[in-house]
Amino acid sequence: MNFEYTEEQIMIQQAAKDFAERELLPGIIERDEKGEFAKEQMKKLAELGFLGMMADPKYGGGGMDTISYVLAMEEISKHDSAAAVVMSVCNSLVNWGLETYGTEEQKEKFLKPLARGEKIGAFLLSEPEAGSDATSQRTTAEDKGDHYLLNGTKNWITNANSASTYIVIAQTHPDKKHKGINALIVDKNTPGITLGPHENKMGMRSSDTHSVMFNDVKVPKENRIGDDGFGFSFAMKTLDGGRIGIASQALGIASGAFERALKYSKERKAFGTEISNHQAVAFKLADMVVKIENARNLCLKAAWLKDQHLPYGFASAMAKQYAADIAMEVTTEAVQIHGGYGYVKEYHVERLMREAKLTQIYEGTSEVQKIVISRTILKD
Ligand code: CAA
Repeated sequence: MNFEYTEEQIMIQQAAKDFAERELLPGIIERDEKGEFAKEQMKKLAELGFLGMMADPKYGGGGMDTISYVLAMEEISKHDSAAAVVMSVCNSLVNWGLETYGTEEQKEKFLKPLARGEKIGAFLLSEPEAGSDATSQRTTAEDKGDHYLLNGTKNWITNANSASTYIVIAQTHPDKKHKGINALIVDKNTPGITLGPHENKMGMRSSDTHSVMFNDVKVPKENRIGDDGFGFSFAMKTLDGGRIGIASQALGIASGAFERALKYSKERKAFGTEISNHQAVAFKLADMVVKIENARNLCLKAAWLKDQHLPYGFASAMAKQYAADIAMEVTTEAVQIHGGYGYVKEYHVERLMREAKLTQIYEGTSEVQKIVISRTILKD
């Protein structure tokens, strides 16, 4: 077993770290306060190739492995996890899904501009009454011969406004339940699509989250991904990889909070010495770093399995559940170590704590991950 990163992986990690510190950290407090999407910064992130980093170079992507992606996601998330989620949705949900299951025509038309970072994508699965219970899709894609007619509402859609390309999961044959669901590629500018207001979220406030309404939206038949009825399986397989992205985001939030708490504990004095000299603080730091190391190893293992083309759904669910849960614990302790300073914005840890909460909720709650994990271990 080799725990060493390659030179290329280290280079990507460093590039992501530099970018996050130079471009994303300044202004994050204001963006978070205003709920403002980091438009200029995302353009630069795209130009550096991070939005299409894993796509095949023949489609304009960076051709990098999933390990590099985990490392980059961690570095970006230490400072701006709202930017990291754009990266995660584009790479893991939209590009991967198109590259793995799309036709050559679909890849030419839709994947190339996404992989080159010229466009942003969004993945539309959740609905007002179908979040964790993803088989209960109410959005319909009625078969009209040469096209589908899309009607319904999607909720909590990351990148809803900034994306040009949507992958929409919708029900075509309700009698067939989840086997009647399709995945459709939809141009956001198609008539009949409207967006709800920007969601005023607790954390990751500058990520662009809206509900999306479809009213008789015509989608050409050739935009369906895979065979008729493949949509639910497509969504589940895509989410297996998406969870590696969000696990790495949670990891970055935790390690960003830990690094800040460590630095603060060596500077802040109380009872005549730096607070890191008090075991009450030192033991917290020890617990935090062990949890982070465990989360990183779970993320890397899932990434490695994916890169080896081995089954990784179980590993990615474990990584997502554990990393999200420890991100909540670690950020809470980071606030505690900072005392009153942790409760104000300038020290960033309160923001990281708010962001950690979302990683326990989206792309499958921690409870959904436990469904996947427990079903896997109980199966045999
Ligand atoms: N890969 C392939 N197929 C899978 C699969 C996987 N990982 N998981 C399930 N399936 C298949 C099953 O084999 C089954 O197929 P058959 O009927 O042919 O046997 C079918 O899908 C139904 O599976 P289940 O019976 O397990 O379905 P369930 O209703 O019990 O639900 C679940 C399982 C794990 C809870 C699933 O519904 C789920 O993952 N829910 C959460 C959805 C989610 O993560 N939503 C997040 C939205 S995306 C997002 O947040 C993006 C963003 O913007 C950031």
